[in-house]
Amino acid sequence: MMELLKIARLGHPAIRGGAAPLSAEELAAPATQQLIDAMIATMRDADGVGIAAPQVHVPRRLIVIEVAASNPRYPDEPAVPLMVVANPEISWASAQTEDGWEGCLSVPDLRGRVPRHAALEVRGLDRQGRPLQIRAQGFLARIVQHEIDHLDGKVYLDRMPDLATLSFLREWQRHWL
Ligand code: NI
Repeated sequence: MMELLKIARLGHPAIRGGAAPLSAEELAAPATQQLIDAMIATMRDADGVGIAAPQVHVPRRLIVIEVAASNPRYPDEPAVPLMVVANPEISWASAQTEDGWEGCLSVPDLRGRVPRHAALEVRGLDRQGRPLQIRAQGFLARIVQHEIDHLDGKVYLDRMPDLATLSFLREWQRHWL
């Protein structure tokens, strides 16, 4: 049984502290590989679609993303296979943005509408340290931007032009869906 990691919530300094890049040696280290496995297990256990290392109190530039088919938190979004990205950098982003709903495991029970680049290209390293390039649009592009923001100490609330759409999950389901 994989041990689950504790998820830091907004207010814990880990969420605002940012993260440092991983060296090739650090990425290959057994402790980092175990961290990646534990982040995946923690994301799945929480029905998340992504998690960033600072959310589990590790200030390193590492994210994992996966959208399971019929994820209970995002049942209407298309499935995305598991991806692990170390040192992700946005190498291109569309000028066009689109608004969409976001939630966050570190900001539980809330949803808000956030403008994000509609499409982007990300470069980084996979868990074996090989160069990785991802072109994403729609929900995946949104998740990537959300998770990279965590590496810079930002949460989606910071990206909302105003808080008028910020809703508790229950009210969101009743009034916004
Ligand atoms: Ni988040």
